Amino acid sequence: MASEGKNLIGVDIGSSAIKVCEIKEGRRGVRTITRFGYHPLPAETIVDGHIINSSAVVEGLEKLFAGSKRRNVALRASGHSVIIKKISMPLMTAAELSEQINWEAEQHIPFDLDEVHVDYEVLHERADHGQMDVLLVAAKKEEITDLTNLAMEARLRPMVVDLDAFTIQNVFEAGYGGATQDETTVLVHCGASTTTVNILADATTAFTRDIANGGNSITEEIQRQLGIGRDEAESYKCGGEGRGIVPREVPEIVNQAVEQLAGEIQRSLDFYLATSGDRELSRICLSGGTANIQSLLDILQERAQVPVEALDPTRVADVDEKAVAELQGRASQAVVSIGLALRKERERN
Ligand SMILES: Nc1ncnc2c1ncn2[C@@H]1O[C@H](COP(=O)(O)OP(=O)(O)OP(=O)(O)O)[C@@H](O)[C@H]1O
Ligand SMILES: [Mg+2]
Repeated sequence: MASEGKNLIGVDIGSSAIKVCEIKEGRRGVRTITRFGYHPLPAETIVDGHIINSSAVVEGLEKLFAGSKRRNVALRASGHSVIIKKISMPLMTAAELSEQINWEAEQHIPFDLDEVHVDYEVLHERADHGQMDVLLVAAKKEEITDLTNLAMEARLRPMVVDLDAFTIQNVFEAGYGGATQDETTVLVHCGASTTTVNILADATTAFTRDIANGGNSITEEIQRQLGIGRDEAESYKCGGEGRGIVPREVPEIVNQAVEQLAGEIQRSLDFYLATSGDRELSRICLSGGTANIQSLLDILQERAQVPVEALDPTRVADVDEKAVAELQGRASQAVVSIGLALRKERERN
């Protein structure tokens, strides 16, 4: 993708916190992360991908952008408002495809075409079969409009809306040089309420899935078993800062919940391996706040029998001194906002 102009400011409104990232790109393409902002959101602000308490979000955005003149942003849309499908179509020219795509979309998407924005990308041409694989993306207009309106209420100018899976893939491509032809890389992003699996084979998306499970389920398990409140459980899960000694049962409870989560991720990997014809995975890169839990990496590695590492988003750019401090302990959570901040004001596909 060729692109020009300044980088947009990445704004990731997640269910646990808003993350904001700013990247400056010099003339020789040298990128620097100049700012990372973090604003925790109260419980129940966002439920099942829907923003319930919009004033909490607007307030958070206003705080994060106080004094900032730059207002052009790239937003992350919740996976709940979008459907992604890989479809197979007869080989055709770009012009033919643009005429055909709505008809194809109608067959694959359970919504009225008037209600969705349809986007697509050709992944592979399989000339010997006369076929090509096309990635079809349909976003519900109403939900996207709600999101952009909310940003505008906080006096931001939304220019781009993207999805977790694709922003993380951008980070992987910019920071790790992307996947090579004969590799299968699994990008797993594990946040508070959702886990997104994106499998890259032959350097393109081969499989994506959202799992409705994440760090919240671990916190809830601590709450339930110890009979304590959410904030206390959350703090114990993250090491207990400010709460004194962590009860000795906590690591065991965390591991139980992590087993459950790793099992759900593994089921997606098994499904992919059973249906794609791909024989093995090369590696798993984990991101999102829940990637801070080392036992998730260990348990996943043991189950999948594939190396698991934490995705380091700071590989896409230099990080200036101020941003180093802001990113301290939050790099895994910053991945989506960093991926969004790679986007430019003007892009040509
Ligand atoms: N050091 C840590 N140890 C354990 N868990 C952590 C740590 N830091 C953050 N988390 C967990 O990560 C989750 C937040 O991650 P993230 O910011 O990626 O989610 P989100 O974007 O707000 O949520 P979602 O995208 O699912 O709506 C929370 O469940 C939080 O408890
Ligand atoms: Mg998130």
